[in-house]
Amino acid sequence: MNNNKLVSSELAEEAVNSIEEVAGKYPGYRRAHAKGVVYQAVFTPNGQAGPLTTAAHLQNQEVQALVRFSNSSTNPSIPDVFSPAKGMAVQFVLPDGGVTSLVTITLPIFFAKTPQSFINILRTIKENSFEGATIADKFKAVMEKYSESRAGLQAVKMLQPPLSFATNLYHSIHAYYFTNAAGERRAIKYECEPEAGLHFLAQEEVENRSPDYLEDELIERLSKGPVAFQLTVILGQEGDPTDDPTSAWPEDRERIVVGHLSITGVADEKAQEYVFDPTVVPAGIECSEDPILNFRHDAYAESHSRRSTNQ
Ligand code: HEM
Repeated sequence: MNNNKLVSSELAEEAVNSIEEVAGKYPGYRRAHAKGVVYQAVFTPNGQAGPLTTAAHLQNQEVQALVRFSNSSTNPSIPDVFSPAKGMAVQFVLPDGGVTSLVTITLPIFFAKTPQSFINILRTIKENSFEGATIADKFKAVMEKYSESRAGLQAVKMLQPPLSFATNLYHSIHAYYFTNAAGERRAIKYECEPEAGLHFLAQEEVENRSPDYLEDELIERLSKGPVAFQLTVILGQEGDPTDDPTSAWPEDRERIVVGHLSITGVADEKAQEYVFDPTVVPAGIECSEDPILNFRHDAYAESHSRRSTNQ
């Protein structure tokens, strides 16, 4: 038996237990990003990624895709305005019938460098969840104890409620490696950029939004036509960290638009239950050494195993 695998899945159980202890347990739902809807989409690559990677879905052939927009909370009934970070998970269907996923969020960085520090940070939040404690109090306690969490939690505080799921910028946070036909390898990150532009709500507009305003708005928007995103690749340079999700790359890195994602309508019931696993990548793409990225495989499998048995 592979010991690393065993250790990783035990740690995944511990991580999912910690999430439940801090944020509540909602049987049958994803243990994070519980409230969300999966939509049908089509991805049209523009050929610009061809010199960088042999990945089949990034060449010249249009492929089917699914997109799940979500609130980050573990609570499936939370009003949209109370869950600041939003997720956009994309599953591309490869020309050979396989799939690959890209899971992005409205934060540019994460608050933990390793799975163990993720668990320790959640425990610190739990220890500081005394009566009357605000989110700001809990964040302060974590930031004092774990300096690696400061930039990530600061980024959470800066988030504004979006006008629409279609008007957010979504980041992969993690780096991946692209390999081209000549065997050249290059570190990259992804972003999903809304073609509708970036639009947020002012404080006075937040109060009169319905609890599910984001889903309602997207359905209304889709009734008028597809919702579009550009898939952008950011090219890393020598020395840019590929193993640390708490650290952003410099802003001036070269960016290449590699394709266009067109979301058309709600996907079927079965698709709503799929796992979007960011470590499932095709030939021409590799996961970086980032321990959080690699850990997400087991954490998501643990969540799927619990939710699919109605735990
Ligand atoms: C230790 C690190 C992490 C843990 C333990 C964790 C845990 C989870 C779990 C348990 C789920 C539910 C999976 C399912 O049932 O299908 C989930 C979903 C999700 N996570 Fe994470 N996560 C981590 C890091 C991240 C990071 C760094 C991002 C940022 C890109 C992220 C973004 C998301 C999104 C967008 C979803 C929703 C996916 C969907 O729509 O199905 N997570 N996470």
